[in-house]
Amino acid sequence: MNNFTYFNPTKVHFGKGQIATLKQEIAPNSRVLITYGGGSIKKNGVYDQVIDALKDCTVFEFSGIEPNPHYETLIKAVELAKKEKVDLILAVGGGSVIDGSKFIAAGACYDGDYWDIITTGGNCVKKALPLGCVLTLPATGSEMNRNSVVTRAATQDKLSFGSDLVRPTFSILDPETTYSLPARQIANGAVDSFVHIMEQYMTYPVNAKVSDRFAESLLLNILEDGPVALEKPNDYEVRANLMWTATMALNGTLRNGVPTDWSTHAIGHELTALFSLDHAQTLAIVMPSLWRYKKEQKKGKLLQYANRVLNITSGSEDEQIELAIQKTEEFFALMGNPTTLSAYGLDESAIPAVKQKLTEHGMLAIGEHGDITPDDVVEILKLAL
Ligand code: NZQ
Ligand code: ZN
Repeated sequence: MNNFTYFNPTKVHFGKGQIATLKQEIAPNSRVLITYGGGSIKKNGVYDQVIDALKDCTVFEFSGIEPNPHYETLIKAVELAKKEKVDLILAVGGGSVIDGSKFIAAGACYDGDYWDIITTGGNCVKKALPLGCVLTLPATGSEMNRNSVVTRAATQDKLSFGSDLVRPTFSILDPETTYSLPARQIANGAVDSFVHIMEQYMTYPVNAKVSDRFAESLLLNILEDGPVALEKPNDYEVRANLMWTATMALNGTLRNGVPTDWSTHAIGHELTALFSLDHAQTLAIVMPSLWRYKKEQKKGKLLQYANRVLNITSGSEDEQIELAIQKTEEFFALMGNPTTLSAYGLDESAIPAVKQKLTEHGMLAIGEHGDITPDDVVEILKLAL
């Protein structure tokens, strides 16, 4: 097991009716900026619950944070937070709203060029407004981590930053808020959280039993409950288990003591920025092909996954691995996220732009061994045609 440092100060209120705890988290008379997306929270009753809980506060609103939040939009919210001298940002929505709000929280305390926050990877962030979250889409883990992904639409750059200063001070997770999710977002949430677990698991064995077995249990939850959430959207137990699984998948717990490989995400971000695919759609395309391409280096963990998660125990090692990859592809497709570029209307002509963007962004040596170059990415994507 490798060395690690673990820090996670986010307080979580989980369960039915927990939005009411906003009253105890936010002091009366606070100046609160509520941030949200395109309006789903107004249709499913979440907005009303939030406003009701904040009756004793001065509330400002910023709406219209789009999926894959745009820098161009977020800087308008930064100006509003500065102008109104708000005490706290309350993000109400999915990963895009929360990520965008992390940027707003940092930007509101920054006087230079706001894009510095991205180009320095968050190193220039010395102060940020406190951030609270009401999560409505289980997927990213942003509600309990230090990361944020922002897109500058003008230049098709989708990049991330991280800072302990933008970790949410509290997050409210009420599974009932997820009943209104369309099937496409249920699928995205299941696939994204599945891949988050894999990016911290599918490397090489280091005998980190806690992280490995936590990861395997979370994978089983998604395999079991993901399809049921599509069939029975109002099943509370299923929604609750998926919601906590997605948070645990990327709140820092699984990375303790293990190598990680975030290359599927790095490649996927470029596909989203260039071709407007949903985040999880890109992951479904890239990961199975990346595994095939890196089969030798990932052999130990691929076999462990095949045996312990998918119960594949017979056949040669190569057969077991191939079957495990195929079953993963089948699961993504069953959820509604097929695993080829062509399924989303893309062909080989899409690949050079991905290579160029990765090169531009300095992603020259990714993967757990730092041995996946932009040329390797071309080969990986050719396997995903
Ligand atoms: O905008 P509204 O109207 O709210 O609609 C949203 C949006 O259209 C809708 N939605 C959310 N909750 C809903 C709902 N619709 C009905 N009922 C509800 N309860 O869902 C759509 C997608 O929302 P979005 O927030 O974009 O989805 P997601 O949570 O998947 O977030 C994706 C973003 O997170 C980033 C991704 O790159 C992408 O930009 N990620 C952030 C990470 C992190 N901070 O650690 C890690 C991830 O790997 C990921 O990169
Ligand atoms: Zn992700």
